[in-house]
Amino acid sequence: MPRDSKTLGAYFTPEAIAAALVRWAVRNPADLLLDPSSGDGRFIALHPHSVGVERDPASVAEAAGRAPHATVVEADFFTWAAGDRRRFDCAAGNPPFIRYQRFAGVARRVALEYCRRLGVTFSGLSSSWAPFIVAAASKLRPGGRIAFVVPAEIGHAPYAVPLLEYLIANFGSVHVVAIKEKVFPRLSEDCWLLFADNAGCRTDNIRLSKIERFVPGASLPPVAEQVPVDAWRTRWRGRLRPFLLPQHVRCTYERMAADSDAVRLGQIAQVGIGYVSGANSFFHLRPSEAERLGIPDEFLLPSIRNSRYVAGSVIDDADVGNWLKRDEPVFLLRIPPRAEVPGAVRAYLDTAEGRRAKAAYKCRHRTPWYTVPDVRRPEFVLTYMSGKSPALAVNRGRCTCTNALLAVDLRSGLFDGNGAVSGERLSTAWGSAAGRLSCELEGHPLGGGMLKLEPGEARNVLLVPDEGIDRRDSGLLQDGIETMRQWRHVG
Ligand SMILES: C[S@@+](CC[C@H](N)C(=O)[O-])C[C@H]1O[C@@H](n2cnc3c(N)ncnc32)[C@H](O)[C@@H]1O
Repeated sequence: MPRDSKTLGAYFTPEAIAAALVRWAVRNPADLLLDPSSGDGRFIALHPHSVGVERDPASVAEAAGRAPHATVVEADFFTWAAGDRRRFDCAAGNPPFIRYQRFAGVARRVALEYCRRLGVTFSGLSSSWAPFIVAAASKLRPGGRIAFVVPAEIGHAPYAVPLLEYLIANFGSVHVVAIKEKVFPRLSEDCWLLFADNAGCRTDNIRLSKIERFVPGASLPPVAEQVPVDAWRTRWRGRLRPFLLPQHVRCTYERMAADSDAVRLGQIAQVGIGYVSGANSFFHLRPSEAERLGIPDEFLLPSIRNSRYVAGSVIDDADVGNWLKRDEPVFLLRIPPRAEVPGAVRAYLDTAEGRRAKAAYKCRHRTPWYTVPDVRRPEFVLTYMSGKSPALAVNRGRCTCTNALLAVDLRSGLFDGNGAVSGERLSTAWGSAAGRLSCELEGHPLGGGMLKLEPGEARNVLLVPDEGIDRRDSGLLQDGIETMRQWRHVG
């Protein structure tokens, strides 16, 4: 395996899975097979009439030994694809999963430009595997097919949408096999399989199989859902994950979503991220430090620094009092931009730690460097990374919060059209079975059992008045929560 596995996205496929993908893709001994990222050659070794492309020289050498009948090309796949005129009957493999932070520079530019010429626009946040599959699919002749290992992100990542749109428009069948058990036990990432057949046609459905573990066999696992492309695109904003739910649970949820009393969080509240200080240890003081330094009270604002401080559904003065009593570093040094800076604060800014903070990236790019921007005291804070369910707490202590939390401010009345806003009703709706299931469906798994809610995902969380959920529905929704948790390996 190449030394820098993360940069190359090099995690090699279990032999049995590689064999199953090649067996499905190759229909005829004369078929020409392409593996766009052939690694040590385990796919192309299974079919003599193959071409493997690989960037890492050590892997190329290994593949050449392992697959002596195949052609192994040492190249960047996209550069090769732009120049090679051959057409293939099938493509199979395991494309590199290189996240956008590492999938950078010329390699990314060439990849995204190749896809753009095919009419597929990937954002800068795309991981490498999606452009690999589009480019591999573009090398097929009519009637051709692809079989790939893909990250489970295909079920929720926005950048997977252009890939699936391309496949839907260019293949007669698109089949995603969701696998609960880990294909790569060492990776936190779950892997699924993607099959597309009949290049040159189009389809209105995405076939979805949902299986515990992949048992290689003569045929693909049974299709559990024919996901209508329209519903996938509009009702579920390009997400397949909600279709992991049993159909009757999804229908119950959709019925609630269609109810006139139901709202999405973003319809009634502003949801944003907390402030970024740029130098956390400098800008957050313990009460004892603030006292020793003589910082005046008006420059100190209690801050909820992370989800550990969100224990229940309310944060009140008593909670803040306890943090201060325990001498926790929860005072944000807040210096308004045009404030006259008192001597004690000036002295703190001039310490060695202050000079280090001033040089930090965020601080040196703002004026004045010591004013932390976007400091507000939201009505609610929301934990956006959690093992169980994201917690929404009423901020009665009027604290500010860091970017380890989301800040939520109500805009209009909840459920009552024109009445007063009730924080309690929002908390209740958030914590209800519908709210928690919605977090599972709108958020996304991060690996290690964690669920993450980006601000845009939080805005989509469905809030249903308590009265709208009867006992039977509540039981079904609870089953749905359990199902989704099992898919992210919790409980
Ligand atoms: C996930 S591994 C898969 C290897 C093999 N197909 C398997 O499944 O065992 C991905 C491979 O892609 C290669 N790779 C990464 N970027 C590439 C690029 N731009 N062009 C060609 N190969 C690349 C890596 O070196 C790595 O060998």
